[in-house]
Amino acid sequence: MVSTYRACVLFGVLFCSALCVSASLVEDVLKALMSAVDCPSCHALLETLKLLAYLGDSTFVSTMITICKTLRLQDADVCQGLLSEQAPIIAHDLRSISFTGQTATKLCDVLLGLCQPPAVNKFTVTFPKAPPAHPKKFQSTGKAPFQVAHFSDVHIDHSYAPGADSQCSKPICCRNYADKTGPIAQPAGPFGSFHCDTPPKLAESMLRAIPVTSQFSIFTGDVVEAAVWLVEQREVTSNLRSFNHQMQSILRSPVYPVIGNEATPINAFPRNTTTSAPSMQWIFDIQSQGWAPWIKSAGAYQVAHQSGSYAVIAKGTNLRIISLNDIYWYKDNFWLYDSDNFYSDPNGVITFAIDQLQAAEDAGQRAWIIAHMPPGGTDTLRDQSNYFDQVIQRYHNTIAAQFYGHTHFASHCDQFAIAYSDYTNRTAENAVSVGLIAPSLTPRSGQPAFKLYDVDPDTYEIMDAKVYLSNVSDPSFQQNPTWQLYYSARDTYGPLVGVSSTESLSPAFWHKVTEAFEANDAAFMTYQAFTTRGVSVTSCDSNCKANTICGLRALRAEDNCVNVHSYE
Ligand SMILES: *[C@@H]1O[C@H](CO)[C@@H](O)[C@H](O)[C@H]1NC(C)=O
Ligand SMILES: *[C@@H]1O[C@H](CO)[C@@H](O)[C@H](O)[C@H]1NC(C)=O
Repeated sequence: MVSTYRACVLFGVLFCSALCVSASLVEDVLKALMSAVDCPSCHALLETLKLLAYLGDSTFVSTMITICKTLRLQDADVCQGLLSEQAPIIAHDLRSISFTGQTATKLCDVLLGLCQPPAVNKFTVTFPKAPPAHPKKFQSTGKAPFQVAHFSDVHIDHSYAPGADSQCSKPICCRNYADKTGPIAQPAGPFGSFHCDTPPKLAESMLRAIPVTSQFSIFTGDVVEAAVWLVEQREVTSNLRSFNHQMQSILRSPVYPVIGNEATPINAFPRNTTTSAPSMQWIFDIQSQGWAPWIKSAGAYQVAHQSGSYAVIAKGTNLRIISLNDIYWYKDNFWLYDSDNFYSDPNGVITFAIDQLQAAEDAGQRAWIIAHMPPGGTDTLRDQSNYFDQVIQRYHNTIAAQFYGHTHFASHCDQFAIAYSDYTNRTAENAVSVGLIAPSLTPRSGQPAFKLYDVDPDTYEIMDAKVYLSNVSDPSFQQNPTWQLYYSARDTYGPLVGVSSTESLSPAFWHKVTEAFEANDAAFMTYQAFTTRGVSVTSCDSNCKANTICGLRALRAEDNCVNVHSYE
């Protein structure tokens, strides 16, 4: 604390002499920063930052960069790049909102973890039709399942440099960074290394490992590497095109993708109610074009006109796949904090989901929801998570399963999350839907992996979920990565809960798995190791275990038992 304070004083001196901004304002910013220790003092900090924002973006940005560098929050180049990109959005937010209001509270939650997320703004989602009195029963006739591949968070790094250091102080390593000094601690291998994003060769190897007999694949987003302080439009454009091309040239069956965090700056998809923001339409246009061979012209039209969401009947099936751009519900999308107005459904993503689910119900179809971010995590805005949960409740009979990615940042990579008709009484009987979350391809936080599902062709329910991985630690990995079965969910968890050979891995099944975790520490530790595919397995005491299980029982964010303080 003392040294941080000294650093700030030092920074104040440097800053004043360098930029000649009012010394008293700088002192105020520093004082507010140092004394922001809880939610009320964070609001006071925002008042001061708001004054700074009124001095203009460049003053605001350079002040933030100096603070970041002085406090050594990141490497100097990361401070510079990240804040040059994100801080102007935050300055715009501060100029647009009251520092005492609810939006300010949300900013204090996401930026500093000093406020709890506010209680959900009560809002009743309306539906075109009441639920059917006699919901259609989807019954298996016992046909052989077909296979679907699920991969996610590929984060391909086109600047990956074999031989560069895989140990570094930046968010990703294995690049020839200009500020690198000293000997190389551990050289990056040609096919990938921990702490680094994915070389294109590893993506190719994974795509070639997907069985040609797969009916189709789902890709739950995140194409671009995590050197987010450097990312700009030209690079994102070429990365998106290049991965679309790679998938198309290798896979023999369609891919149904989603929009991930690939805005520039990262995550920053502005709402269509923000008129002053740079448009991210170019991303939707690139993907509309790149995905058209798989999602056909109707789907491609929707991607371009629905902020990246679309629906399609999966090839050779009667299954409606509904792909949603849920980055409009993502806490780290800083455009979402630029108004004190209440927007229940930014960019109409929830309305789009309802329309598509109603169409599926009317047609007697089953549907799958696919999106990047699981809507029950701590990084989802609770309002939109709650409203989307109302949609799940209404259409749970139509939704056979949901599929997400994204979570590898928290190194909880291979999870599931359950929705309940009654969150105050989470039982197997009340479990209505399940989200299956894919591991990441990037070896940044675990072994590179993908999933294969066995799918019942009548019900489109999941009969088994198998994780395949390639072992970075294996000596042969850098010559020729091989992909082996890591585990089958049915074989691993089935014996714990008892599931007959004809039953699918239903929401009730997954709930019973969480009960088995509660009762059986060894089973829980197996799950815990699965989340990083055996890499850096962290211990988890009884408190941690209870919270983890609660998280698995929450596809609705307000129920995930994580408050901002224990989250740190
Ligand atoms: C919880 O749900 C179960 C299953 O639907 C039901 O039997 C039970 O009565 C409920 N308990 C409470 C306290 O609501
Ligand atoms: C990966 O390989 C290492 C070294 O051979 C081994 O210790 C580890 O158990 C393997 N991990 C998995 C998940 O197979």
